[in-house]
Amino acid sequence: MKQIVVFLLFTLMVNVSFAEKLPPDYQTCKQDDPNFSKCLENAIQDAFLRLENGIPSLNVPPLHPLRTPSLTIGEGNGAVNVKQHYTNFNVYNFGKGRIEKFNVKLTSTDFKLELEIKYSEVRVESDYSLDGKVLSLPIVGNGKCVVKFINSTAKVELQSETYEKKGDTYLRIKDLQLKIIPEKLTFNFENLFNGDVQLGDTMNKLLNENWEVLYQDIEEPIVEATAALAIDYANRILSKVPYHELF
Ligand SMILES: *[C@@H]1O[C@H](CO)[C@@H](O)[C@H](O)[C@H]1NC(C)=O
Ligand SMILES: *[C@@H]1O[C@H](CO)[C@@H](O)[C@H](O)[C@H]1NC(C)=O
Repeated sequence: MKQIVVFLLFTLMVNVSFAEKLPPDYQTCKQDDPNFSKCLENAIQDAFLRLENGIPSLNVPPLHPLRTPSLTIGEGNGAVNVKQHYTNFNVYNFGKGRIEKFNVKLTSTDFKLELEIKYSEVRVESDYSLDGKVLSLPIVGNGKCVVKFINSTAKVELQSETYEKKGDTYLRIKDLQLKIIPEKLTFNFENLFNGDVQLGDTMNKLLNENWEVLYQDIEEPIVEATAALAIDYANRILSKVPYHELF
């Protein structure tokens, strides 16, 4: 399929733009549809699941998991006073949310979306390295970790703008406000304290029992990193498929 697209592009390149289309199994919605909002809500809900495998023809990577090679969080000055460095940071189930509230505003130059998405479990699996103090106790270690967000609500407000490229109009997300409200967080850091099992188990228990206090401190960097990943992911699609192919 990819080869066919490349071949077609090559033959059409002389005086046709690089605009592409979404694959036919993705729903699109016309602005003059009286149920435009409902149509778009369904289309986005449906796209979440399809995007698990990415869109190979548009070079869009799989959403399951959403990968980022590395993430560094500086030490805060509250309960989590820890230098944190993560590599091979993978977020699972990002596409498995259920849209519960949906509000869209679309004009020829402006596209705004407000969403509330419920997730039963979003899981981060990563390699970590930590050094500092948490709840005033020393914490140090490196290894694998799993952090689970149980029964979370994500509140998303996104705003995009249009721009011109090779004679076509495209959308680009320029701002994404995000709030993530979990019912519970669980932590499992393997190999804390140089592999001392007793200290490690005690620390993991402490983290899990105090997740609410800890989340107050780590919410902002987590939300910023997630919003940046989501903007980058969405813009990879929007930069290839022009506005008139979407709406
Ligand atoms: C729009 O949606 C409502 C509720 O789902 C439905 O009753 C109505 O028939 C739809 N209208 C059109 C034009 O599709
Ligand atoms: C998550 O929600 C499910 C279904 O509503 C519920 O059964 C479960 O107890 C909740 N889990 C937590 C940890 O709140």
